[in-house]
Amino acid sequence: MCPWTKMREQGGVMSLHTFQKIIPYLRLTKSVDFTGGGEPLTNPDLLYMIEQAKSASCEVGFSTNCVRLLPDVSKKLIELGLDWISFSVDAATPEKYERIRQGAKFETITTNIVALRDLKRTLNRQEPRMMMVFVALGGESDVRNYHELPDYIDMANELGIEQVIIKNLDVILKEEDDHRRLFQHEGGTPLEVEGIIQAAERRAKEVGIKLRRYRLQPQEQAVCDHNPINSLFINWEGWVSPCITHAYAEERLFAGEWQHPVCQRFGSIHKATLESIWELPEYRDFRRKFILRRQAEKHLLMNTLLNNDPNNKLALPEAPSGCESCYYLYGI
Ligand SMILES: C[S@@+](CC[C@H](N)C(=O)[O-])C[C@H]1O[C@@H](n2cnc3c(N)ncnc32)[C@H](O)[C@@H]1O
Repeated sequence: MCPWTKMREQGGVMSLHTFQKIIPYLRLTKSVDFTGGGEPLTNPDLLYMIEQAKSASCEVGFSTNCVRLLPDVSKKLIELGLDWISFSVDAATPEKYERIRQGAKFETITTNIVALRDLKRTLNRQEPRMMMVFVALGGESDVRNYHELPDYIDMANELGIEQVIIKNLDVILKEEDDHRRLFQHEGGTPLEVEGIIQAAERRAKEVGIKLRRYRLQPQEQAVCDHNPINSLFINWEGWVSPCITHAYAEERLFAGEWQHPVCQRFGSIHKATLESIWELPEYRDFRRKFILRRQAEKHLLMNTLLNNDPNNKLALPEAPSGCESCYYLYGI
């Protein structure tokens, strides 16, 4: 399932030595997401890192496959005041789940989620808010999962989930994944897919679960969801990039074509301070491109409102190099 395994061949987990370099900046940070290209719960120091981020008053969360989310870990996460946790579960049935997430057991991960739900109830705690992410897949019948979405909402409801996110297969590093994505560059969304997603939306409304779905047709955004204007990604070795895609994805498929963007790693926190990396002219220039795009978008909106011209077209300044072949820039 995971596209990053290819990149992680020489990978590891962030050491405390590397994390110590980040600690001084936590008090300047509003929110920390401990998710990278691996599994956060494989890091033996994760709880300590969360504790540090919480004591610096950050909002803290991470995404997990739930395999190691054992009840004693869940209890500590609650005690530490973790704000949110996102479970990656791509099916509503054991057969489909175990086909997609090979090596994980559906029963184990649902049992772990139930234990966290029940612990929260026993301790009368609202946090961590629980989300569940479903990567919607087409392609071969054994991996195709989108028809399970309405049942998935019922399952999420039973598991005590507050929000379901239907995500696209947007990181495409293998040819076979390009045949599994549901979004299309040309033409409309297949009616069957749209119908099933709408059924899931109705179900979510009935049971009171928030549901977020991503676009199924790319549409260029001024700034992507990662918002590199005021967020950054630090990988396990301490390299600083604007986002995870710039940190790793040197080779990927975009609109059916192989792309080889140059990764943007602006510096290492082992060699320079975070402020000095953030203020590097090339990093400032990277952010400035997004700032100009945001300004252009605001300008267009004002013009549309003032001149009452709904046909006003958005002409965005150029995005930073590499971003043009990243699906996040297109709301996918
Ligand atoms: C890279 S994972 C890492 C965190 C953790 N191991 C997990 O399973 O949640 C982060 C998120 O990306 C999703 N994901 C996995 N493969 C993907 C792909 N090819 N395209 C988009 N998202 C993907 C996962 O389901 C998960 O929600």
